Amino acid sequence: MLILGNMIPFVNLTGQRDAYRDELSAAEKAVLDSGCYIGGPEVKALERELVDYCNSGAGNGGAGPETQAITCASGTDALTLSLMALGVRPGDEVIVPDFTFIACAECVSMLGARPVFADIDPETLQILPSSVESLIGERTRGIIAVDLFGQCAPYDTLVPLVRKHGLWLIEDGAQAFGASSGARRACTFGDIAITSFYPSKPLGCYGDGGAVFTSNARLAEKVRMLANHGSKERYLHETVGMNSRLDALQAAVLRVKLRHFEDELKVRRENARKYDDFFADYNAGLRASGGVDGAKIVPQKIAEDNTSTYAQYTILAEKRESFIRVLDAAGIPHCIHYPMPLHRQPCFESDAGRAENNADRASRMAVSLPVCAFTDVDFIIDKLRAAL
Ligand SMILES: Cc1ncc(COP(=O)(O)O)c(C=O)c1O
Repeated sequence: MLILGNMIPFVNLTGQRDAYRDELSAAEKAVLDSGCYIGGPEVKALERELVDYCNSGAGNGGAGPETQAITCASGTDALTLSLMALGVRPGDEVIVPDFTFIACAECVSMLGARPVFADIDPETLQILPSSVESLIGERTRGIIAVDLFGQCAPYDTLVPLVRKHGLWLIEDGAQAFGASSGARRACTFGDIAITSFYPSKPLGCYGDGGAVFTSNARLAEKVRMLANHGSKERYLHETVGMNSRLDALQAAVLRVKLRHFEDELKVRRENARKYDDFFADYNAGLRASGGVDGAKIVPQKIAEDNTSTYAQYTILAEKRESFIRVLDAAGIPHCIHYPMPLHRQPCFESDAGRAENNADRASRMAVSLPVCAFTDVDFIIDKLRAAL
């Protein structure tokens, strides 16, 4: 039983470490004994393996052989580096989804540009192309689409949209490395894609880490340079950059986890299917007993042709407070991703005061449940069945 004391962890990282302990220990020891702690062979090998992964398994529509992965210190840095490489300047506008983690909007603001918040689809919770199009103006330079909760954004509509308007597109795949849409893997869409290796991400390391992906050689060279103090040649700085590198130790950990990644994703998807079945039965039972529609609990819709990494298993509950009371009483951990749309955050408050949108409604109803490959979802569902 995957329980710590009386607590089920939201993401069972210790269970995962136990499962790969020997491989992880060997990889960690090899790095510590090597004397090479920043960059070097582990980081180079990881970057190759990340590209190979994006190319594999999903037909030949994935990243091309010319695609590069450039590792860096976090997903947030990966976004900042991408925006810098694309030349975002003060006064520019970048369209981002209203319902997501703050990183994409924060990076835009940090560069002196303005994030403009697009509404989301009420079922898939992904950025809504029609809302994006309505926000494109004189100052718009590009769009950051987020693969929310591990499902690819609607790129079949977004890519033609950015081409039509002469904009660029960044795929924020922080939650979605390993997902696919049609024949293509996540982190292969747009002009630049990024991911995060934050520990609780589907592919996570033991600290902060991230990566940028692009098949544009010019952008790849710029990102590499910007991540290394704006320097290609030692002590010659062509531009002002930053220090954003992945440690060799983190790369070694990620290489071990990458070997098990597909198996973990299979279990995550199976866990999600079990929740889907449970909530479908629950909603059908409500209907049969003449229960109120407002008590329905509806999982994030996964669009046809998409496979999700289920970075989170997120449901929408009209009566969220009472659902959370049930979860608390049953000892089932949960998180609210996200309690407030970005346009209402105090740091962006100039955008507050709009009429309620789909992002507001999702913020009021969303709850995420544990779904990782080392979570005993059958046990959680038994508890839910008894409590709901
Ligand atoms: C959608 C999204 N983008 C970006 C980030 C930032 O990644 P990091 O925490 O590695 O900086 C996160 C992290 O949670 C995220 O969920």
